[in-house]
Amino acid sequence: MAVSIWILTISLLLVGVCGQAGSRVPAMFIFGDSLSDPGNNNNLLSLAKANYFPNGIDFAEGVTGRFCNGRTIADFLGNELGLPLIPPFNNWKTKGLKLLHGVNYASAASGILDDTGRQFGLVWTMNKQIKNFRRTLKQLSPLVKRKGGVAEFVAESLILVCTGSNDYLFNYLDPISDVRFKYTLDQFQDLLIQEYTSQLKELHKLGGREFLVVGLGPLGCIPHAIGNHRKNRSKCVDEINEMASQFNLKLQMVVEELNTNLTRLGFRFFDAYGATMEIINNPSTYGFEHTNKGCCVGIMDRIQLFCPPLLPFNCINRTLYVFWDPYHPTEAFNAIIAKKMSQHVQKVQTP
Ligand SMILES: *[C@@H]1O[C@H](CO)[C@@H](O)[C@H](O)[C@H]1NC(C)=O
Ligand SMILES: *[C@@H]1O[C@H](CO)[C@@H](O)[C@H](O)[C@H]1NC(C)=O
Ligand SMILES: *[C@@H]1O[C@H](CO)[C@@H](O)[C@H](O)[C@H]1NC(C)=O
Repeated sequence: MAVSIWILTISLLLVGVCGQAGSRVPAMFIFGDSLSDPGNNNNLLSLAKANYFPNGIDFAEGVTGRFCNGRTIADFLGNELGLPLIPPFNNWKTKGLKLLHGVNYASAASGILDDTGRQFGLVWTMNKQIKNFRRTLKQLSPLVKRKGGVAEFVAESLILVCTGSNDYLFNYLDPISDVRFKYTLDQFQDLLIQEYTSQLKELHKLGGREFLVVGLGPLGCIPHAIGNHRKNRSKCVDEINEMASQFNLKLQMVVEELNTNLTRLGFRFFDAYGATMEIINNPSTYGFEHTNKGCCVGIMDRIQLFCPPLLPFNCINRTLYVFWDPYHPTEAFNAIIAKKMSQHVQKVQTP
């Protein structure tokens, strides 16, 4: 009884906050890869981890497992929507009332395909993340006392999905992978889109109604791609960017189709590619100086490797960098993108 009164109080508080600020959601459920991982991989038998300094150097809680100097796009987006920091699924503290603002399932190195990221050990693929979401829904069901119950709660919540980069970086483009011999680029793309579509439909089946589906960024512009490119080590790699934009075109079509085909739906596509290129092409407009090298990189033969845990760390002007490490953007960049994204999240009506 005490618990339900608490929940009622919290819901009223939330409604209060919602009312004041306009466009708000009760919770956010996050699916994806290292761009959104808040530390889910820390406790997995995986090599894809960022739970060491200097990651988190600008984050209030310090090192958490985020692949960033500070907050991720998902963190900033939550903040824009009036939500507290969304907790990682893979943490014993994430239970009870903590679930009422949503849960983050993102796992570094994972992708759309179950095979993606295998070379890093255990990662939570999209399919596994959806399984974990089911578990959360079971736990939420006795906690949500509001009208319409957990179904309405989930229907009003934002489902943020940002995945697919690693299906290219750590699968199709991985020099030791054999998928390039199994599929043409077109076939591989169709496979990804087909899998992704059924995953989005599954999330809809589980009650998700408000979706923000984030397209791929310009993968040819990440320092890792630039550094590995033999021809010119300062320019974005057109071939890889082309793969990302083709994928995005198809994904955007799927998102539009799902809006037509499924009932009561708010699927939105966010053009991360365009938003990122705008910044990379006009860095000074956004306060950046460095667009093609990471702030924290290990360098071997001019190829930029992952952010090394070893000291000394001497990247002082972190706000001048678009990229934190060879794969991930800085907090400064993430803040700008999240602001743009939040404009895509429509006002959700509270009953
Ligand atoms: C590489 O690209 C940069 C930027 O477009 C250009 O300034 C530079 O001259 C190019 N270098 C080579 C070797 O082509
Ligand atoms: C939407 O419905 C049409 C017509 O039934 C079908 O051809 C198409 O594959 C559906 N799209 C998706 C993404 O499910
Ligand atoms: C930081 O940026 C400022 C302004 O561009 C520059 O004067 C300064 O030398 C930079 N410091 C370091 C350590 O890179």
